[in-house]
Amino acid sequence: MKEQLKTIQEKALAEIKNASDTKALDDLKVKLLGKKGELTAILKQMGGLSPEERPQIGQLANDVRQSIENGIANMREQLKAAQTEMKLKSERVDVTLPGKHFSQGRRHPLNTVMDELKDIFRGMGYSVVDGPEVEETKYVFDMLLTDEGHPARDPQDTFYIADKTLLRTQTSSIQIRTMLSQAPPIAIFSPGRVYRRDAVDATHSPIFHQCEGLVVDKGITFSDLKGTLELFAKRLYGNDVKVRFRPHHFPYTEPSAEMDFQCFTCGGKGCPLCKGEGWIEMLGSGVVRPEVLINCGIDPEVYSGFAFGLGLERIAMMRYQVDDLRLFYENDQRFLKQF
Ligand code: DAH
Repeated sequence: MKEQLKTIQEKALAEIKNASDTKALDDLKVKLLGKKGELTAILKQMGGLSPEERPQIGQLANDVRQSIENGIANMREQLKAAQTEMKLKSERVDVTLPGKHFSQGRRHPLNTVMDELKDIFRGMGYSVVDGPEVEETKYVFDMLLTDEGHPARDPQDTFYIADKTLLRTQTSSIQIRTMLSQAPPIAIFSPGRVYRRDAVDATHSPIFHQCEGLVVDKGITFSDLKGTLELFAKRLYGNDVKVRFRPHHFPYTEPSAEMDFQCFTCGGKGCPLCKGEGWIEMLGSGVVRPEVLINCGIDPEVYSGFAFGLGLERIAMMRYQVDDLRLFYENDQRFLKQF
């Protein structure tokens, strides 16, 4: 029986050493020390031993059991340590590896210019306001004295959504909305998208941006308009910029004028950028017609105003010497990264 116990011990300890993980060790424990294990079977035969042998074998059996238990406990520690080691190895961060590249975005050139314009007008005391792009014809046309039959209303030039609803063709609708919702004195600046049915080419896009300005107060005249817009041009292009006003027609202003600035590339001599003119058109403007004020419930005997609308893309094209409008909308990284 002594021999048997020794064999059991040796076999058991060898098996324990070979256990590959803690699960295998658990199974082994049941097999070696459990009720159906070999050791238990031996102990069950103890009754047949002589009274002298019994304590000796009993002691030996206990020692064997103890050594198997110790073996299992030791092995468990070793396996756990090995597992932790492996986990640490697999999760190790190699700080010497090159970092991941995050490409950082930047402001779109149109937004940069728009922000600059907002700043200039805020600096002159204007508030910046926003308005809907899906608009009613009464705000875009009717109340701005642009009657049915006017070419600007032609469905071929305009995106109608319903009979009297369209994508606004100009930000001038914001003039009406502003005058209907607030009393003079008014000084607002409103940049936003506008839509026209134009085929895309280097200078046309069905979506582009305008910025509208409106001032209504007592005693406002055409000279306020000129002074304001000249100052604006200087803030944008520097004190040396030269501007000129040309008479023009807009249904909602009288007198109306377009403002050009002298081409800064050729200094007015004429070059490809200004198409040989020496001047570049910048905006439309005029003194608000009394009928428009009346439409909005403002008394033209007390108040007068001026308004203007400028194209944002044109200013951005000049600013960055970009000769094709499409570049602003294509989101080509090679283009956008230059700003
Ligand atoms: N809305 C005009 C356009 O789209 C620009 C314009 C002209 C706006 C005169 C005005 C203005 O406010 O008074 O061409």
